[in-house]
Amino acid sequence: MIYSEDLIEEVRVRNDILGVVSGYVRLQRQGRRMVGLCPFHSEKTPSFSVDAGKQVFYCFGCQKGGNVFHFIMGIENLEFPDALKQLADRAGITLPESEDDGERERSKLKKEITALNREAARFFFSCLSKPEGRNAQQYLAGRGLQEKTLRVFGLGYAPDSWDALCRHLQEKGTPSWLLETAGLAASGGNGLYDRFRNRIMFPIFDIRGNIVGFGGRVMDDSQPKYLNSPDTPLFSKNRELYGMNFARLSSSKQLVMVEGYMDVISLHQAGVDTAVASLGTAFTQHQAWMLKKYAEEVIMAYDADPAGQNATLRGMEILEGTGSPIRILQIPDGKDPDEYVRKHGVEQFRTLLDTALSLLEFRLLLQKRAHPGEDVEDRVHLLNGMADVLATHENAIEREMTMAGIAGEYKVSMESLKTEVDKRLRKVGNGKGPIRTSGIMQGNRSVTDGPVRNRYDESELLLLCLLGNENRLFEELLLRRPATAYRGNISRVVAAKLYERLQNRHEASLAELANDLPPDAASAMIHMAETRGTVDNADKAIQDLLRRLERIALEDEKQWILESIRSEKDEVKLRELGVELNRVISRMSEIQMVASI
Ligand code: CTP
Ligand code: MN
Repeated sequence: MIYSEDLIEEVRVRNDILGVVSGYVRLQRQGRRMVGLCPFHSEKTPSFSVDAGKQVFYCFGCQKGGNVFHFIMGIENLEFPDALKQLADRAGITLPESEDDGERERSKLKKEITALNREAARFFFSCLSKPEGRNAQQYLAGRGLQEKTLRVFGLGYAPDSWDALCRHLQEKGTPSWLLETAGLAASGGNGLYDRFRNRIMFPIFDIRGNIVGFGGRVMDDSQPKYLNSPDTPLFSKNRELYGMNFARLSSSKQLVMVEGYMDVISLHQAGVDTAVASLGTAFTQHQAWMLKKYAEEVIMAYDADPAGQNATLRGMEILEGTGSPIRILQIPDGKDPDEYVRKHGVEQFRTLLDTALSLLEFRLLLQKRAHPGEDVEDRVHLLNGMADVLATHENAIEREMTMAGIAGEYKVSMESLKTEVDKRLRKVGNGKGPIRTSGIMQGNRSVTDGPVRNRYDESELLLLCLLGNENRLFEELLLRRPATAYRGNISRVVAAKLYERLQNRHEASLAELANDLPPDAASAMIHMAETRGTVDNADKAIQDLLRRLERIALEDEKQWILESIRSEKDEVKLRELGVELNRVISRMSEIQMVASI
């Protein structure tokens, strides 16, 4: 059941947060806030506060925060729909029992497609054991799959025919439009024809085990290797995690993220029942949140080729953004998990799981690969690169221990390494740094964990908090920074919603925006608003933040150009990079000049 945004907002507004919280926590007035002992962590002096004006709560101790929904979800341990129901009851609002007509139509269509997909999967499966499926059988056996695995994953074969599936389903009374809507058929000059022909068929399950779409693989080297269902009312490729319906039931909460269908299937067959795949598309925010919900730890085990390694870098940033603990598994000798587990067995794969690298170790490894350290100059680059990595790592103890290791390995003194890292730490700034601010850095606590990880994301979010508190700043911001410019995981969501509302209805509060955020993201936003969002001069603060964002982006760009220059051999490209570098540097000094006026 999906409720409208307006209804959700009505439930929120009609449940005053002070009244709701008072049912659980004894509150006392302290200035603008009401404070009490935090119900989410144990403490002797009150650091939990409720801001009735903003309709949010925030704990300065455990940094949990959010609106009234997040409070109920946390304290009653409920998922959002149940929290909504409880608060609706409390306010005497009746949630619609039955879905409205449009909604009912959609859900009926989804059920029809689900049923049709099941029929299609049965058909593909049955074709495997027909004479025409001989090659497919052999192919699957050749890839080491057992009978039982084929059944569990419902693998099948789409015959080498233009209309075998269409005919089969039409005989059962399926209308053509439904076949098309389900993405099983397409229409061309000669009428309807099967989308999947002469392919091994992989049904794609959603988390509850319904078949929402298919992937079809060729049995030779022809292209495309995989053909997937198009997006349908039921299926959107970037929302599903292949294998999640099985992994969800595992007793282990350590999910293994792989790239492909075959990796998932091989690993499950070998007994690693927590493998899931992102269907080869870029790993998405939605998938990250799904992982976060079911996993206590995510091990990324992408292919060892360059594509896999790049996908690892992107994926780990998204995952890091949700606050999931992550480790990176590197498959030796250029293989994917499927090949590896078949060649070396599951025990060796489990060893790889146990020894998977922490993010810090992985980032240092990347530096080592970039600078093999054959001459002195390269070693200097390497050590500087490692200092960069260390400076972005938040845990001081891990930092220190790692530095000791590096100092020993590369025969440099611990002091000089520490000096370099500290220099960068000051530059990165954690509220104590030399960067001049106009009072926006009031709290000196930086966001150290949770979904907001770096200064860029922090600045974006702070900008949005200021805007949420003072809607009048919108006109200026709309000109200087459109909603699409935001990069941080949370700020992207917040910006889209906040800008849309301000454009349409001219007002929006942070508490309302929090309706759209999962608890940890809401905490991060409220944390920012409560610790740093109150400023004397919001206009000045906004200017500072915009400049800072541009400066960080330019610094990134500069680093990138410098790195490219280091590895570029082509004269012409080098000259172009030089021009770029000059542009970036002169823009940087422009910003600096404006800032010092
Ligand atoms: N993929 C896709 N379309 C393609 C190629 C790949 O959708 N044209 C997706 C599939 O989900 C595939 C995943 O990306 O499983 C990983 O691609 P790849 O590593 O090439 O495939 P494998 O799963 O390793 O397949 P195989 O072992 O059969 O070659
Ligand atoms: Mn692969």
